[in-house]
Amino acid sequence: MGFTMMTDNQFLLYLVGAISITLGYCARRVTTNYFALRSLKVPGPLIAKLTSKWFFVHDTAGNNANCVHELHKKYGGNIVQVAPRELSFSSTAAIRDIYGLSAGCLKPKIYSAVGREAMFQMVDPEKHRERQRRMIHIFGFNVLLQLEPMIQEQISRMIDLVERSVRVVDNTIADIEEYGEARMKESIEKFGRHAQRPNLMTKMLAGDPEKGTEPLSDEDISSEVSNLIFAATDTTALEMACVVRTRPPPGVARSTRREIQAFGVKEAKFPYLKLQNLPILNAITKETLRVHLGVPPGLSRTTPKQGHMIDGIFVPGGTTVHVQPLTIHRNPKVFPDPEALKPQRWIETNGGTPEMREHMFVWGFGNRVCRGQNMAMMEIKTMAARIVGRYTLRLTSEKTRDDMVLDYFIGFAKGHSCPDI
Ligand code: HEM
Repeated sequence: MGFTMMTDNQFLLYLVGAISITLGYCARRVTTNYFALRSLKVPGPLIAKLTSKWFFVHDTAGNNANCVHELHKKYGGNIVQVAPRELSFSSTAAIRDIYGLSAGCLKPKIYSAVGREAMFQMVDPEKHRERQRRMIHIFGFNVLLQLEPMIQEQISRMIDLVERSVRVVDNTIADIEEYGEARMKESIEKFGRHAQRPNLMTKMLAGDPEKGTEPLSDEDISSEVSNLIFAATDTTALEMACVVRTRPPPGVARSTRREIQAFGVKEAKFPYLKLQNLPILNAITKETLRVHLGVPPGLSRTTPKQGHMIDGIFVPGGTTVHVQPLTIHRNPKVFPDPEALKPQRWIETNGGTPEMREHMFVWGFGNRVCRGQNMAMMEIKTMAARIVGRYTLRLTSEKTRDDMVLDYFIGFAKGHSCPDI
């Protein structure tokens, strides 16, 4: 085989050819992109209509939700285009239309990229229904009450660390998948498959004897365990940090302390069943969840191939759609002075007007709603009550949400710690 040397002219010709083909391809791509949803006449930045790459910079900088929220503020209305085939909504009608039980909008394939397939990632509705049927028993309120002593014990350990002035740093588990599998094997080796210990692992290993549901395979259980670590850890940790960091007006702060002290909440003995309905603690928790979302970005769904009506507009099939939680939580007509943390808005309205409650979009909606919300609330409120009942908190610096939180798919405390309390 012989090689022929390329002359300078030939090289130039090839180079020009390659550049022209690339430019031609890009021009064709951005033109197709631009016209993909043009007939809908949805407002949005030109760059978002040409390419989805522009958003990558914001997403990797942990600015996903803020960026879309700013677009909603800029363009007004209830809908904005954020990518050539992606629309963001901000109305409660859109929540029902996108996530409601009969909506037919499915999770996009991107969810499968988040670790091994577990209930959370499943795209196929049949597969998800079957997995939910075999998992749902572990999230029951009766199971939660059995877990209460274990949760109290963990909170005692945390308080112990605080009292020994150990700076608690929350670290992302390097390889959650392997971690889940290792924990499952360890549990079976130590306690067997039929252990009576009340935790989510033993409940999964046992299946649901009451309904006669068979347990999942070991492989599926380890995927679910890994996923639960991902779904339950940083989300709840962030909310816990934000609840104790909430600076309510002095009157509300004093009443919270009085409410908690009157109830005798100091140690691990008081029952959550009573704690869960304390009105001032409820108000502080709700307001924290409203302002500091644990899962701030829009939860993406794909419209069915025949297209779908969302908040009064017909969206073609295969379009990615979501409702932006930050925007809905900061609707000034429902929450006046929306950026401010004002727990009293929940107290003055006896737990919130129907409109306020309808505008809370913390846990998702429909059949993919968060299954761990009761557990998260038990952890957040119990921890907050024990801390507030025991200590007088003083913040060493004033910080906004943007100073503290990185918005990826879930919110993370910046620097993985909350050092200012
Ligand atoms: C403050 C803490 C938490 C927040 C803000 C939160 C938020 C969410 C949200 C918004 C979703 C819906 C995702 C979507 O539609 O794409 C979700 C799903 C889920 N969450 Fe949570 N979560 C929290 C804590 C927990 C805990 C403690 C557990 C378990 C013990 C848990 C288990 C799950 C599961 C299994 C799903 C998937 C449900 C399905 O697809 O059928 N979460 N969570």
